[in-house]
Amino acid sequence: MGGMSRTALIQVLGAVAYGELKAHEGLVAEAGETADEQERERLLTFAGQELRHHRGFVARLEAMGADPERAMRPYRRPLDTYHGRSSSDAIDEAVWAYLGEGVADDLLEWLRTVVDADTAAFIDTVIADEEQHEEHATDELRHLLDTEPDGRQRARRAARSMIAHMLASGAGPAGPRFAAFVQVGKPVELVLRITGGFARRLAAIGVAPVSVALP
Ligand SMILES: [Fe+2]
Ligand SMILES: [Fe+2]
Repeated sequence: MGGMSRTALIQVLGAVAYGELKAHEGLVAEAGETADEQERERLLTFAGQELRHHRGFVARLEAMGADPERAMRPYRRPLDTYHGRSSSDAIDEAVWAYLGEGVADDLLEWLRTVVDADTAAFIDTVIADEEQHEEHATDELRHLLDTEPDGRQRARRAARSMIAHMLASGAGPAGPRFAAFVQVGKPVELVLRITGGFARRLAAIGVAPVSVALP
């Protein structure tokens, strides 16, 4: 691997490692606010998995001779901003969780095709966990859409605001460090996976395509 793509891969692994840490923190916080015992247990199990993912990506960075703290640093502010928002509307929260888990899955599916065999094997174990998270987020959202008034219309608004928020916080494709993702390889596949994933997931919940102009 050449110098530029090694640097880019370190940046991408730094972004993913920090994203996993934010996912862990978010689930711990959510578990703390959950009254239902069974649901709380499930969230704490997921939180433990996210911590395992974080540590695994940190270990991969160390194996490459990189400094994990340094690799994560540029992503702290955008990801803290992105995860810092919250809504009192249950549909907003459920749509953001559903699409957020989905983007993470799509990103990992791309990442496993551009990394070394050891990292790919680790990512496969991460994807196995994330599939459960996505399934849980999907069930939650479907339940709300079936029971809340104007569910699908509100979900459509929530999807639009989530995408706008992702772009504005610098955590998405408009972010200052997105170039690193492109340099790692297969940029077209990456963009198609993410945009295609949004469209497919919105269609899956009966929400018409949401148009967002990518800068
Ligand atoms: Fe994860
Ligand atoms: Fe997850």
